[in-house]
This record gives sequence, C-alpha cells and structure tokens, in this order.
Amino acid sequence: MDTVPRKRDWEEVYRNGSVDGLPWYRKELDNDFKDELINRQLSDGEALDLGTGPGTQALGLSKLGFKVTAVDISKNAIEEAKKLSSDIDFEVDDILNSKLKKKFDLVVDRGCFHTIEPEDRKTYLTNLKKLIKPGGLLFLKCFSDREPETGFGPYRISESIIKDIFSKDFVIEKIKHSEMRGNRKPNPKALFAVMKKKL
Ligand SMILES: C[S@@+](CC[C@H](N)C(=O)[O-])C[C@H]1O[C@@H](n2cnc3c(N)ncnc32)[C@H](O)[C@@H]1O
Repeated sequence: MDTVPRKRDWEEVYRNGSVDGLPWYRKELDNDFKDELINRQLSDGEALDLGTGPGTQALGLSKLGFKVTAVDISKNAIEEAKKLSSDIDFEVDDILNSKLKKKFDLVVDRGCFHTIEPEDRKTYLTNLKKLIKPGGLLFLKCFSDREPETGFGPYRISESIIKDIFSKDFVIEKIKHSEMRGNRKPNPKALFAVMKKKL
C-alpha cells in the first residue's frame, strides 16, 4: 500500500539518481500509449512528455519517430533522464508556471496530472492547452477512482473529473479503464483518456 504523502518533494524523490525502483517506473512505452499510436498509425510529429520523471516514456516516443521534448519540475530527474538520449530535448519546467513556447502535435501525461492539487487543476489546463496545436492530441494516464482511496499517493481521478476539467477545450475521444504498469503490485487501477484539442 502507498504510504507516501500526496504532496511530494520531487527534488528529493529523484535525489539519488536511481529511478528503476520507483513505483511508476516502466522501461517500455506505456502499453495504452503504444496501442493508441499503433491504431492511429502515428509515429511522427512534435511530442511532449509532461512530467517525464525517469524519461522512459519520452525515450519510447523518440524511438517510434517523434521529435520529443520532455519536461519535469525536478532538476534532478531531468539531469538523470538526459543520460538516456541526446535526441530528446529534456528541460526543467513546471506545468503550473510553464515557460515552454512550442506547440505540440501530441502531449502525453503519465502520472503527472494525478499528482496536481485539485485547486491547481484549472491552472494545469490553462497552461497545457497553450502547448497543444489545434487538433492535437492529449494522452492522459492517471490513477482511477477504482483504486482504493487511502489518503496517500496520487489523487484518484474519476471519469467525471476528466470531463469536468477537459471537455470545454478538448473533444474527449476515449476514457478507458486500465492499469498503471510499473513496480507496484498489483498494478494500480488507472484511467487512460484520449483527447483532441478543439479547433
Ligand atoms: C508519477 S511520476 C511519473 C513520471 C513519468 N511520467 C513516468 O511515467 O515514469 C510524476 C512526475 O510528475 C512530475 N511533476 C509533478 N508536478 C509537476 C509539475 N507541476 N510540472 C512538471 N512536472 C511535475 C514529478 O516530478 C514526477 O516526475
């Protein structure tokens, strides 16, 4: 069971540089991201990995053919992730106060949104939507409200929270019940949402 506080010191989490034991660590590209990209026959364009942490999702996208920017609030995480590939533009950036200027065809968020405090979700949205081209895609993977509430770890996100936050600016094409495959067993229950930014 999770016993980590909701509010994390992300610099501390990544301080010792060893990422492969972290609960969310997955060496391969997330299975839902991969399946969705295959179904849509997407393998190029500008992609952003938001809250990249260990950088493995950015690496998976880069290997498929995307030109990838990957950001995280933690300088320690970014310093470590930079060792994975020189093809990826790794940068420190806080999505609640983003300095990014580019616009992307695809943004993936695996586990960042569900760490954002509920009162900051609108700010997350305001900044995120500036980073996606009209018609661009957002892949969101987060803990679901089917994962038992413990008061610890990530916020549990319901379908109605996703609709409430995103539906004004995005067409929600899919919300699917899934699992977050990492080091935690059993795999935490998750939601995978695919959204297209309105024109
Ligand atoms: C659960 S981890 C997931 C990491 C990575 N996406 C993965 O799947 O391996 C959440 C990540 O979001 C980052 N994060 C948290 N708040 C953030 C913010 N405001 N802006 C950017 N990144 C943030 C954390 O530093 C952490 O690396």
